[in-house]
Formats: sequence, structure tokens, C-alpha cells
Amino acid sequence: MKYALSMLALMVPVAAMAWPWSTDMMNQPSIKPQETDHGIIHQFPARSVPVTGMPTKVANREEAQKLVNPVPATAASIKTGRTLFRIYCAACHGFDGKASSPVSPKIGAIDLTMDYVQKDLTEGWIFGTITFGSAIMPAYGKPGEGGGANDLSVEERWHVVNYVRNALVTEPITNMAVTQ
Ligand code: HEC
Repeated sequence: MKYALSMLALMVPVAAMAWPWSTDMMNQPSIKPQETDHGIIHQFPARSVPVTGMPTKVANREEAQKLVNPVPATAASIKTGRTLFRIYCAACHGFDGKASSPVSPKIGAIDLTMDYVQKDLTEGWIFGTITFGSAIMPAYGKPGEGGGANDLSVEERWHVVNYVRNALVTEPITNMAVTQ
């Protein structure tokens, strides 16, 4: 009897979670992320995530090509750019930018320390590549198309450009932490 009672006591909390009113607080009229309306996932309105700072004034990479970098490559900008590069770019291009990540050869991510990226491309084109994506590379400043997102603000994208062009080649990689 004592055993049966203690077993019952053990089971009560489990059963209590399954009462019909247990989920009352969860069921609300608000639309939850990923919730479907007759099978259609609600699209978030473009740029519904607030992005502060400068707006993107170009429509595509070709237009971005001639942009002049408005963010001076200060030590602070390069530091922010390094942090963002390690979060957003290193997975495909490697921490050192040399296409050294295990994923790099699988998707054909290029070595960003090559003269092609360091000298031939304009800073505007690199900004445009981050904003609009490339053939395979996803977009970080244009939500909706081709799996694009607006994860990086305009200013943040220029910080990444500053890091790629001013520190990626010269700076020794002494620490693989995301922030340094
Ligand atoms: C999902 C993998 C992936 C991520 C993440 C990624 N790239 Fe790329 N990137 C690629 C691939 C693949 C290419 C080469 C093919 C192409 O152009 O799409 C490329 C090409 C490039 C190019 C050359 C574009 C050109 O015109 O030839 C630049 C510059 C570049 N990436 C910079 C970045 C920066 C900066 C980031 C971080 C904001 C980043 N990439 C994040 C996969 C990625």
C-alpha cells in the first residue's frame, strides 16, 4: 500500500501537466514564429527587424560596385568587422579567410586573401556581395530572396569590408575566439 501510494505521488506531477488547461497560457491569438495559416508560413514583412543606421541605397551588386566606403577603417571598425567576419563569414571562408574551413571546398568558397579580393574588387563590390549575395553565397542585407537575411546593418557590412581589406591578410590569427 505504501509503495502504491508513493508511486501515485510520483505520477501526479506528470499527469498534472496534461490537463486541458495546462496550455491555456500558450494558446493566444498572436501568431507564433513558424506558425502556419492553412499550411502557409507567414512571411515577415521586409526589414521588420529594426536596422539602425544608414539605409542601403543601391539595388544590386553592379550599383554597389562604385560605392565609396563611408566608414573609416579605424581600429574600432576593424575590431567590429573581425567579430562579424568570424560569426558570418568564417564558416565558409575560414577564420583566416583562406577558404580553410571544412565547408570551403564543398561549396567552392573562395580565398579572400587573394589579390582578386584584396586588390581587383572594389570595396563597394565586396559590400554589394555581402548585401545581395553572390552565385552561391547568401545575402546578408536583403531578406527574402535566395535565403537572404538582413542580419547585418549597412554600417556593419562596411565594418566587415574594412576588416577583410585592412586586416585579414596582415593580421596574425592568434586567437580563434569569435571576439578578441
Ligand atoms: C554559406 C557560405 C558562405 C558564407 C557564410 C559567406 N560566403 Fe562569401 N562566398 C561563398 C562562395 C561559395 C563564394 C564563391 C561563389 C560565389 O560567388 O557565390 C563566395 C564569394 C565571396 C566573395 C567574392 C565575390 C565575387 O564577386 O567573386 C567575397 C568578397 C565574399 N564571398 C565575401 C564574404 C563575406 C565578407 C562573408 C561574410 C559576411 C561571406 N563571404 C560569407 C560562400 C559564403
